[in-house]
Amino acid sequence: MKSCSTPLMPSKGILRSIIPMATDNYLFEIAVEGGDLSRCQPGQFVELWIPGVGEAPISVCSARVGSTIELCVRRVGRVTNALFQMQEGDWVGLRGPYGNGFPLEEYRGKDLCMIAGGLGVAPIRSLCQYVLSHREDFGKLILVYGMRHSIDLLFRQECMILLRRRDIDVFIGAEEVEGPQLPPISAQLGRVTDMLRMAAVTPDHQIAVCGPPVMYKYVVDELFKKDVPSSNIWLSLERHMKCGVGKCGHCYVGGRFTCKDGPVFRLSDLRFLPEVIESEEVSVE
Ligand SMILES: Cc1cc2nc3c(=O)[nH]c(=O)nc-3n(C[C@H](O)[C@H](O)[C@H](O)COP(=O)(O)OP(=O)(O)OC[C@H]3O[C@@H](n4cnc5c(N)ncnc54)[C@H](O)[C@@H]3O)c2cc1C
Ligand code: FES
Repeated sequence: MKSCSTPLMPSKGILRSIIPMATDNYLFEIAVEGGDLSRCQPGQFVELWIPGVGEAPISVCSARVGSTIELCVRRVGRVTNALFQMQEGDWVGLRGPYGNGFPLEEYRGKDLCMIAGGLGVAPIRSLCQYVLSHREDFGKLILVYGMRHSIDLLFRQECMILLRRRDIDVFIGAEEVEGPQLPPISAQLGRVTDMLRMAAVTPDHQIAVCGPPVMYKYVVDELFKKDVPSSNIWLSLERHMKCGVGKCGHCYVGGRFTCKDGPVFRLSDLRFLPEVIESEEVSVE
């Protein structure tokens, strides 16, 4: 294995810490040996390789990537199951960063609303950390984070801290609140769209969205009700990927490689891709 990642050659990463966040959702801090992932931008992803098992694209989850990188992973299939069997000190492969990431230059100087559904909070966390660490470069900030069940809340402590800040409006809620783990901040019952309705989003806001595809139609409809133009709305899309670098064609849809041209797309550029937001009814400008 090379000491520094080339486009298709992984760097070696040692699992430094493994933190359970919710059922089947763990945060992995990985020390990268010899690689240089320091140029990771919020919204980009890496290909995580488990030797003998395979690879999966995973979003960069923190704004600052130095000698370590944080990945928030949900256990769903072969690669992620294998990762969840591993222990601190075990090694994995990482290549990247890949993809375009959120358009930080476009956002700079403007009001920004970040919207996360479920595990979509992973890349949104990295964006949120970035804008808060460059707070003076941005206008009004809004964070909307929704999940199905309150017990699925990720980054609980960080959410508590965010809720206490005065320089960002934070809306966190769950469709169902249940169980002894009920966090006080999830007393808010409702969907992402219910919270979005309460948020003071204006047509001038830039919008960053990441969540399950089925959420996008409803979020976009709500944003249109607030007269936000589709040119201000940026969606992070998820497709099946293999190579991550525009070579294998697995993620090719509507003339675009999601891995290379995305995964973040401006909604006004998606008019030929209605299927990617799982709606034929969403009319983009
Ligand atoms: C840009 C991007 C960023 C991502 N970021 C993250 C992240 O930060 N964290 C995270 O946890 N995930 C993330 N994902 C999703 C992750 O890459 C996928 O869940 C990936 O498939 C996991 O790999 P796996 O081998 O564990 O699962 P797989 O074995 O590929 O299974 C994934 C899902 O597909 C189903 N499936 C698998 N094979 C079949 C089949 N033959 N027929 C029908 N269904 C099948 C499985 O049941 C499972 O639900 C991201 C994806 C993209 C594209
Ligand atoms: S994943 Fe291979 S072309 Fe995009």
